[in-house]
Amino acid sequence: MDNLVDFLYVIAFALFIYGLMGLTGPRTAVRGNWIAALGMVIAVVATLISIRDTANWLLIVAGLVVGAVLGVPPARFTKMTAMPQLVAAFNGVGGGTVALIAWAEFIETKGFTHFENGESPTAHIVTASLFAALIGSVSFWGSLIAFGKLQEILPGRPISLGKLQQPVNLLLLLGAITSAAVIGIGATSSGASMWWMIGLLLLAAVLGLMVVLPIGGADMPVVISLLNALTGLSAAAAGLALNNTAMIVAGMIVGASGTILTNLMAKAMNRSILAIMAGGFGGGATAPGASGGEQKQAKATSAADAAIQMAYANQVIVVPGYGMAVAQAQHAVKEMAALLEAKGVEVKYAIHPVAGRMPGHMNVLLAEAEVSYDAMKEMDDVNGEFVRTDVALVIGANDVTNPAAREDASSPIYGMPVLNVDQAESVIVLKRSMNSGFAGIDNPLFYADNTSMLFGDAKKSVGEVTEELKAL
Ligand code: TAP
Repeated sequence: MDNLVDFLYVIAFALFIYGLMGLTGPRTAVRGNWIAALGMVIAVVATLISIRDTANWLLIVAGLVVGAVLGVPPARFTKMTAMPQLVAAFNGVGGGTVALIAWAEFIETKGFTHFENGESPTAHIVTASLFAALIGSVSFWGSLIAFGKLQEILPGRPISLGKLQQPVNLLLLLGAITSAAVIGIGATSSGASMWWMIGLLLLAAVLGLMVVLPIGGADMPVVISLLNALTGLSAAAAGLALNNTAMIVAGMIVGASGTILTNLMAKAMNRSILAIMAGGFGGGATAPGASGGEQKQAKATSAADAAIQMAYANQVIVVPGYGMAVAQAQHAVKEMAALLEAKGVEVKYAIHPVAGRMPGHMNVLLAEAEVSYDAMKEMDDVNGEFVRTDVALVIGANDVTNPAAREDASSPIYGMPVLNVDQAESVIVLKRSMNSGFAGIDNPLFYADNTSMLFGDAKKSVGEVTEELKAL
């Protein structure tokens, strides 16, 4: 039976890695997800086989039922726009589970002193359990705050203790590590070690809250990815403590991929992970037009004018952003593009790596509307093309088109790579108002001479342009 369990684990891990490979491209992503999920089913079956003699089956079945009842409906019915908070919630649950496993291990071994059979837990089991308790608790509470901010239950703006924030966080971390050390080296009686363990979990909980509260809404997806990496690492530690190979491997894969994703996102926003964790950026709304001093005026246009401009263009580049996702305008956009193409206009889509609220957000929506992958261009490939483009059609994108990132050293997003839409001959921006985007800053693009604004919900505006195109 042990051989069978090992064999199943090897199959499961191969499927995890093969599935992950599928996630590197939109064409293979769904299949990749299924393959990795199949790997997880096999890993769970292998684990159940390995504990068959001691398992409490009633508890296991009850856990499976509760998990499925709570997990499946949100996973199936959550809208694409609310995916980041769903990821935050699921990630938090993972971290919380790991902290509970560490707690259960602590109770089971009477404060890490001895197992039921009288043997003492080895140093690596104790260290791994304490690490899992600390990081799992940070991840659970941090993810809850991230969820609250994205769901707008909590204010998206940074909430911080100002200069005291970093020293307080450091004290909390030192307190948690000290508690872990006291338990780990057995410097206390087993009765008192319970209080140290509770202290460790509480200090880590407050640390999780304190680390995420000062981080502004704009940085939240990066934070979620980082918390995800932490959950992975803590799950791997819990796997070490429980001697469960599946948890170690899956945890390390999550830890490694979460770290890579965090790095990629931080790079695309031109911010270091440390700067993001220091907090204070984004989420506060700036009054439109406030940054330049003098009152600036944006020009409004109509669907009819926009349609005429695009119908007589050689090339139109569509620049989708978060607003396209909110409006669910992707199908309308595809229909409009088909009409333009029928008139001989070349239509491309420029995808910024952090457009929307999660990595690949725009690609997923456009793929859902059956926009061809070849028409979707990544930022570095398309940026040189704007100077040769007649019309850049910005649909609910804001921060990722902000030229201040290139030109204004005082801008909070200075240095972030942006789509150079302002270099197109003319720019049409579809949004509902002059409000700022996620970073909460003004966008000079809207006041540029070659820019006109088509105000309204993106889906409605695109629909109106389409009707005008049909009439031409
Ligand atoms: P944003 O800068 O957030 O701008 C979206 C715009 O869409 C808003 O200005 C809003 O203006 C408009 N909008 C909202 N609903 C609309 C609707 N129904 N119809 C038409 N327009 C609508 O979005 P972006 O340009 O995609 O930039 C993404 C932001 O998220 C960046 O700041 C980025 O750093 C941040 N971020 C993203 C990620 C990932 S991985 N994607 C990660 C971290 C941070 P109105 O209210 O006037 O309509």
